[in-house]
Amino acid sequence: MTIRAVVKGIGHYLPERVVPNSWFEDRLDTSNDWIVSRSGIERRHFAAEGQTTSDLATRAANNALEMAGLSANDIDAIIVATSTADLTFPSAATMVQGALGNTRGFAFDIQAVCAGFVFALANANALILSGQAQRVLVIGAETFSRIMDWTDRGTCVLFGDGAGAVILEAQDGAGTTADRGILATDLNSDGSYRDILYVDGGVSTQSTGVLRMEGKEVFRHAVEKLADTAHKALAKTGLGSDDVNWVVPHQANIRIIQSTAKKLGVGMDRVIVTVQDHGNTSAASIPLALSVGVSEGKIKPGDLIVAEAIGGGLAWGSVVLRW
Ligand code: ACO
Repeated sequence: MTIRAVVKGIGHYLPERVVPNSWFEDRLDTSNDWIVSRSGIERRHFAAEGQTTSDLATRAANNALEMAGLSANDIDAIIVATSTADLTFPSAATMVQGALGNTRGFAFDIQAVCAGFVFALANANALILSGQAQRVLVIGAETFSRIMDWTDRGTCVLFGDGAGAVILEAQDGAGTTADRGILATDLNSDGSYRDILYVDGGVSTQSTGVLRMEGKEVFRHAVEKLADTAHKALAKTGLGSDDVNWVVPHQANIRIIQSTAKKLGVGMDRVIVTVQDHGNTSAASIPLALSVGVSEGKIKPGDLIVAEAIGGGLAWGSVVLRW
């Protein structure tokens, strides 16, 4: 018998305000055509004034709890993947814990930028396999609209706000790839790429800062590293691209998603795409895409899923799981 971290529930939340590409046309030297053709993004959601990352995270978490038929105190651990926490401390995760009314267990944040949710899933899996938690609430939540340079047309048109949440539960498996749950993970980072994607401020520099990105360089690394990490995680299971029902990629750019799928040998009919509606929501993008994939009836119990992401650091990784 093998312990597996199995998905028990999923939910998401998007702020009410939808911002179409035309909003930027009125403010910057840009066009809907450029944004759609270079990124695939048509619209994104922005949080309302005063609405914070932990607010979005709590709503997504409540939706996941409802789907799982669980209450807040059934959860042993809460992990929030975010780069845009409400406060320097306490963690967004403990704020979610308080808002949910969870009075037991433990909560902490993970910061691996756009790869954050994959890193959080891998950590939740480790907590479950080591017996430290039976049920882990894993959330990706961001308010990237708070760290945009609104004069930089190369970045501010690309990002959005949102949150997605997954509940993982310890269940007995047979130890084969037919088991439901997380089957393999692969995590990587390389700090020598710091300067191609970063925020030029932070606590220690006494400013919030705004996002800076060398888009072309990030693009080049993304296609190469995403395909590589997905291949490595799949290789750990002995399964191949033909076995994959759904690739659920980080939603940064449709061209990265298409190029990576091609390198993986997976047709776009087996890729969940939400970038047109959400933009790049960083750590929230994969759980949002998973949740939309489930609610649209695409992802079904038993499906083999590969989730892959890359972000600032650079940090990148992937998870293979059977839904
Ligand atoms: N509207 C119109 N023109 C624009 C815009 C815009 N919004 N933005 C840039 N341009 C111009 C540039 O100024 C440039 O003009 P020039 O040729 O006169 O200098 C031209 O368009 C081409 O710019 P590029 O940057 O070369 O365009 P590219 O095709 O590379 O697309 C993009 C840019 C969309 C940013 C792409 O490089 C990309 O998606 N990169 C990866 C982003 C990513 O994956 N991030 C993931 C991680 S995010 C995280 O971790 C937080």
